[in-house]
Amino acid sequence: MKKWMMAIGLGAMLTLGACGGGDEEETTSNGDGATTASVDAEAVYAQNCAACHGANLEGMSGPKLSDVGARLSASDIEEIIRNGKGAMPANVIEDDEEITAVAAWLAEKK
Ligand code: HEC
Repeated sequence: MKKWMMAIGLGAMLTLGACGGGDEEETTSNGDGATTASVDAEAVYAQNCAACHGANLEGMSGPKLSDVGARLSASDIEEIIRNGKGAMPANVIEDDEEITAVAAWLAEKK
């Protein structure tokens, strides 16, 4: 997969909030108040979803998700992750925090 493209996207997102130098350091005690700070949504996506939806959300066997936020809310996406949809299996990820983080991250894609 095109890891460098992911890295660019991740870097762009982190530019806003990161105060350290690293790109993927643990965000355990940043004290930013973000509820999902302990989960790297992009990493979860890369591991669990990219095989069907593409490393850059461009779609593969599953539909592209690069503009999914324009169609679906975070809670819609959460529901799809939990229950599956059509050819997409249910419970692709089971950790609640990861589900919430990935759903919130995808809901921003519009
Ligand atoms: C085994 C392949 C597969 C995996 C893994 C997978 N998906 Fe899907 N996904 C699909 C398919 C196929 C659809 C289309 C289902 C339909 O509409 O019939 C879909 C649909 C969706 C939709 C709805 C898109 C839309 O525009 O309606 C979302 C959101 C989504 N997936 C998110 C995820 C997320 C997040 C993950 C990882 C946690 C994931 N998917 C993992 C195959 C997959």
